[in-house]
Amino acid sequence: MKLFGAMEIKENELFIGGVSSTELVSRFGSPLYVMDESFLIDTCKNYYRDFKCLENNNRVAYAGKAFLTKAMCRLIYEQGLYLDVVSGGELYTAYKAGFPLDKVYFHGNNKSVSEVELGVKLGVGVFVVDNLDEMKRLNEIAKKYNRKQNIYLRLTPGIEAHTHEYIKTGQIDSKFGFAPVGETIMDAVKLALDCENINLRGLHCHIGSQIFEIQPYEDAVEVMLGFIKSIKEETGHTIPELDLGGGFGIHYTDEDKPKETRDYCTSILNKVDEVCEKLNIERPILTIEPGRSIVGNAGTTLYTIGAIKEIEGVRTYVSVDGGMTDNIRPALYGAKYEMAIANKITDKCNARVAIAGKCCESGDIFVNDICIQKPDIGDILAVFSTGAYGFSMSSNYNKNPKAAVVFVKDGLARVVSKRQSYEELLALEV
Ligand code: LLP
Repeated sequence: MKLFGAMEIKENELFIGGVSSTELVSRFGSPLYVMDESFLIDTCKNYYRDFKCLENNNRVAYAGKAFLTKAMCRLIYEQGLYLDVVSGGELYTAYKAGFPLDKVYFHGNNKSVSEVELGVKLGVGVFVVDNLDEMKRLNEIAKKYNRKQNIYLRLTPGIEAHTHEYIKTGQIDSKFGFAPVGETIMDAVKLALDCENINLRGLHCHIGSQIFEIQPYEDAVEVMLGFIKSIKEETGHTIPELDLGGGFGIHYTDEDKPKETRDYCTSILNKVDEVCEKLNIERPILTIEPGRSIVGNAGTTLYTIGAIKEIEGVRTYVSVDGGMTDNIRPALYGAKYEMAIANKITDKCNARVAIAGKCCESGDIFVNDICIQKPDIGDILAVFSTGAYGFSMSSNYNKNPKAAVVFVKDGLARVVSKRQSYEELLALEV
């Protein structure tokens, strides 16, 4: 079990940000997403420093799809980060948080007319254009609002990243972006240059998620700078910015061997310098879009154990009060997590059990076979590193209300997203 950031063990109990697990659950209920705020801040600071945001004007755009609340928008703004959004809803969250919208990148392979309109009206910094239909739509809407909209073109560089198949997005056969086949990319560039209300500022790629190797990023740098060079040669247009996406891997269990933030950043920066020199082009302003690696290890979910069923000679099921509604990743991807009983965390792990969620679905199992501290009814189960794609992929399946999110720091806890009430659960129904 790996403890991150401001996690510590005191008198056989897990504390996060100086607050005990039992206090958190008794004050805020369970399931509860707990985010270690100083760890979030430190991670942002590391990226800002290691990607040379100050010296080279580079940008780290936090990928909001991993976890987005208004409090998170404010936190990343305070750390000098940009924000990547993928829907009108994420954009609206940033807007309501007072996040400066010129620091927003708007992604998505099918942005609706109303989403594009909202983005243009609010003054989104960069539209990452995914296809020709979007480009035409965007040009018309920008014209209507008398804007010249900055865009990046999303390209699929055809890099194979070693990751879970469902979340691989860099290959050529992808719903995202322009593929490097035939004249596709050059046609997109030419259309962008012909569009009066569009300003082609950059290229973008994203090669996958939960990637541990550095090589795929270096390969992507090589391919993308090659595109910048060919575009210059063929059209005379200089592309001054390059966005290399996110995907930096994190530790969920001991099977995962991620690199340090600094290693990913330094290798990318060095490779860019090397290739720019080789191709004799100017170094573009660079962006990366980490999501998981900013929030993943900062989050812990706390559950209350409510039922323990032993099937003799088969298995013991320990059921908690959340499940695939607050964390779909085990059921969807077979994702693995470390976990422990928070209120007896230094006890021996000699109980061999399965941990089950409460949803009416036999696949709602966190883990089939794990050794943990001997569980009792009312104990608190902590599942670690749930900060990314837990809350943001949560659902109301079985009409379970959404769990609350608290930020903890220096012994204080504050709610940043309230637990949904039954009334709120029915708020949309007529
Ligand atoms: N930029 C773009 C364009 C992306 O599509 C993504 C993730 C990111 C940045 C951030 O990637 P990250 O640094 O978080 O790996 N639901 C899946 C992950 C899907 C990732 C989709 N795109 C999961 O729970 O593992």
